[in-house]
Amino acid sequence: MAMPRSLRCAAILGTLATLGSAGPAAAVTITMSCSALGTELELCREGAEAWAAATGNDVELVSTPNSATERLALYQQMLASGASDIDVFVIDVIWPGILDSHLVDLSDLVPQDEIDQHFPAIVENNTVDGRLVALPWFVDAGLLYYRTDLLDAYGQAVPETWADLTVAAEIIQEGERADGNAQFWGYVFQASAYEGLTCNALEWIDAYGGALIGDDGRPTVYSPFSQAALEQAAEWVGSTSPPGVLNYTEEESRGVWQAGNAAFMRNWPYAWALSQGEDSPIRGLVGVAALPRGHGAEARHTGVLGGAQLAVSRYSEHPDVAADLVRYLAGYDEQKRRAIEGSFNPTIIALYEDAEVLAANPFFGELLDTFTNAVARPSRITGDRYNEVSSAFFSAVHSVLSGEAQAAQALEDLEADLNRMSRGGRW
Ligand code: GLC
Repeated sequence: MAMPRSLRCAAILGTLATLGSAGPAAAVTITMSCSALGTELELCREGAEAWAAATGNDVELVSTPNSATERLALYQQMLASGASDIDVFVIDVIWPGILDSHLVDLSDLVPQDEIDQHFPAIVENNTVDGRLVALPWFVDAGLLYYRTDLLDAYGQAVPETWADLTVAAEIIQEGERADGNAQFWGYVFQASAYEGLTCNALEWIDAYGGALIGDDGRPTVYSPFSQAALEQAAEWVGSTSPPGVLNYTEEESRGVWQAGNAAFMRNWPYAWALSQGEDSPIRGLVGVAALPRGHGAEARHTGVLGGAQLAVSRYSEHPDVAADLVRYLAGYDEQKRRAIEGSFNPTIIALYEDAEVLAANPFFGELLDTFTNAVARPSRITGDRYNEVSSAFFSAVHSVLSGEAQAAQALEDLEADLNRMSRGGRW
């Protein structure tokens, strides 16, 4: 097999480094933190080990909690101590503005033409005060998964609106339960009190035309859009969605879905490869669409922008070698492999025209609009305050979903909190 382009590149650089110094550079061990969601850890390991084999260095992987909220807390703790234990961090699309002071500027270590291969909006997202603090690795957007066989059996169309989804979920759930599957649910999503709920709830609100924070930085969450969206979502809990959804993150919802016990699921693209895996009971019965819209003049289909970036710690003892690993993992061949094996959406634009990538993931092409127009969480505008904002938001939403608070009151209180936090939108 031909050597992948980025491996060739690493090998050439290795040769140059050897030529330029007194002898071959000593092998070093690079430690990398990976997420373990679904197949992430396995794919991360395969990629990092391929780089290690090609360069003669070693890699050690540290797996981190699945919950983005817990992962951030762990990273902040590690980085605050200035420890050099971890060289490469996988960071969420919403964290550059929170972690930037701990990360190296990769524009000094990565050639510009390599940076230019990625979606410019994500490169911009990862650039804080002119420093490129992470290379884009994969893009996420919230998607609607549906069971093609069940929609057919019950004469239902792919839902256009959240109201359509609610009706179809009810019909299918009632039918499947009458047919003997007492564990069947209409719709599963992520409503544990963590970052994933921020994503789900922002999608509901955006679907009606609302926003958490306006482009000018002012909180706008207390609106009829948000109220309609949250009231609708609160109705699902315990009726078409299990009461336990209040503790679900991505993997709990995928568990119910992939066991064949749900008609619809909201999740990220990684769930496609797993749902369609050889051992999946629902293989061949899965469709993917943009999330439904709300109703009213401003209603639109939506999906929140997510994804992961690769960053090098400022406290690393080997930033150059760590950056070489990052370049390899974010490179064309590795992103292609991850797209085909794990349905991770590439950040390299050219891969959206690659026939093998599109054959493995037909929805990449069909939903390109959803990916390119995905709604961003307000992490740029709120900077290092983002986590505080998101926590206030998901806590308020969780209290509405669990029936502890009414939507209108919770939203009014939340907006007042956000106004206090931001001194009227100045952040
Ligand atoms: C996924 C997304 C990430 C998001 C997280 C929330 O990992 O890529 O952006 O914050 O889910 O659960």
